[in-house]
Amino acid sequence: MSTLLLVGGGGHAKVVLDIAHAAGFSVVGFLDPDPAAPPIGEVRRLGDDATAAALRAQGLTLAFVALGDNRLRRKIGERLRAEGFRLATLVHPSAVVSPSASIGEGTVIMPLAVVNAAARIGEYVIVNTGAIVEHDCVLGDGVHVAPRSALGGCCTLGEEVFFGLGACARPLSRIGAGAIVGAGAVVVGEIMANIVVVGAPARPLPGVDSEAVL
Ligand SMILES: CC(C)(COP(=O)(O)OP(=O)(O)OC[C@H]1O[C@@H](n2cnc3c(N)ncnc32)[C@H](O)[C@@H]1OP(=O)(O)O)[C@@H](O)C(=O)NCCC(=O)NCCS
Repeated sequence: MSTLLLVGGGGHAKVVLDIAHAAGFSVVGFLDPDPAAPPIGEVRRLGDDATAAALRAQGLTLAFVALGDNRLRRKIGERLRAEGFRLATLVHPSAVVSPSASIGEGTVIMPLAVVNAAARIGEYVIVNTGAIVEHDCVLGDGVHVAPRSALGGCCTLGEEVFFGLGACARPLSRIGAGAIVGAGAVVVGEIMANIVVVGAPARPLPGVDSEAVL
């Protein structure tokens, strides 16, 4: 059984912990900046980010960053790699992943999600509960596709796109890096980088940029 260190002690980490256990990992503990962070089930806080180096020196080699913030997840993951950690790829046993799909390190595929043929999922991606990523989609590093969202075939999502709850994208849609697609939106073509869109069809939310929302 592989032993895993989690980074993050919030709600997202709770779900990731369940997935890690279901996928057969043993979780040694989690890191969180808050000294008062309560245990998650039987799993306790071991310290903050600075503790990672000490754990690496003790022989721990495998970690997973369980943070919902797309940018922070990547940043901390890169720091862990620089310290010598490998990052796990977590796939819940109830998810359906095509043998021809590829999934990067540091990525989690949550319960009941579907990743179909020839999809390419980058590193540090969250394919959340029940999300559907159809054939030939390409998801850049740090993307989050939220619960029950759906991407039609051949969609491309740039780095760190946030694709909201229940949103969907027509096949062949392209969404630029850093864009935020609001809950329930319907993307029907091209979305520029770093903007926030909502509605059906998805249109920019006036006066709001993605940096302000994150
Ligand atoms: C789109 C979004 C990012 C905008 O956040 P925000 O800038 O804080 O937006 P606000 O709540 O201030 O709302 C601004 C306006 O947009 C509207 N709006 C917000 N989200 C909307 C959505 N998803 N669809 C349609 N309209 C939306 C609000 O009704 C409000 O309209 P008003 O000015 O006429 O009152 C956010 O509402 C959203 O949908 N987030 C996705 C959350 C999600 O999926 N989480 C998954 C976690 S796993």
